[in-house]
Amino acid sequence: MPLLPHPAWHWLFVGRLSPLVIRQILMGAEPHLPPGVRHVAVIMDGNGRWAQQQGLPRLEGHRRGARSVREVVRAARQLGLSALTLYAFSEQNWERPLEEVQGLMQLLHDYVIDERREILDNGIRLQAIGNISRLPEYVLRPLASLMAESAANQGMVLSLALSYGGRESLADAMQKLAQEVATGTLDPAAIGEDDLTAALKTAGLPQVDLLIRTSGEQRTSNFLLWESTHAQFYATSVLWPDFGKAELLAALGAYHAEPSAQPLGRDADV
Ligand code: FPP
Repeated sequence: MPLLPHPAWHWLFVGRLSPLVIRQILMGAEPHLPPGVRHVAVIMDGNGRWAQQQGLPRLEGHRRGARSVREVVRAARQLGLSALTLYAFSEQNWERPLEEVQGLMQLLHDYVIDERREILDNGIRLQAIGNISRLPEYVLRPLASLMAESAANQGMVLSLALSYGGRESLADAMQKLAQEVATGTLDPAAIGEDDLTAALKTAGLPQVDLLIRTSGEQRTSNFLLWESTHAQFYATSVLWPDFGKAELLAALGAYHAEPSAQPLGRDADV
């Protein structure tokens, strides 16, 4: 179903709003993105702790986490973000117990199937970053198919980081460049930042403006190392299954644009 703007009352439950958002509510307007925010990335953490607090199995935490994914994607699209990147499964996550890995794969499969219409109807382009060849066939097939179906969409790029590692993706990009050097299509002396940017699976996205991590941790955990060099980091103690539209707005409300922010791949002052 296409996303329709909510009436102003919808926002009244939202806590910790910035003056900008409060002003928009009072004026009866839908909250806007703060100037300068195009790309938000999220390290979704705390599913296990959420489940533990509720006396539920870990997998139930991931299930509730998948619900937060749906809500945040919908909110991001409504707000007009250009790009949303979610850390859904790291390379290290393969080392978790088999039952948990299988449960996460099933949730990914269900997400891609259930959200197909929502993604297509709302102009979202779905892409996966990471070593997706490691995903089981029953996940990879519908994922690849929705990526292809949504490839021409212009509304928002939703990137799911799957079997992802920031260092691994940099090594991958460097291999690509090395191959071009080996075949004589790239002069090693001419390699610059833009070449590396273009060789990453995030090529074409704006640099990350806001990097959110839930559950109180303050580490970047090998996520978007190159792409978030100038991102503002926002850590919240809210566990991912409790993170929704209100929390996304709170994170956006805390954003302060970096005056020297440059597009990804260009030199920026530090
Ligand atoms: C971290 O919680 C979260 C993950 C390892 C996976 C994130 C997965 C989802 C949100 C659900 C499925 C995703 C999609 C896109 C449908 P944790 O288990 O490390 O929590 P803990 O640190 O409290 O143990």
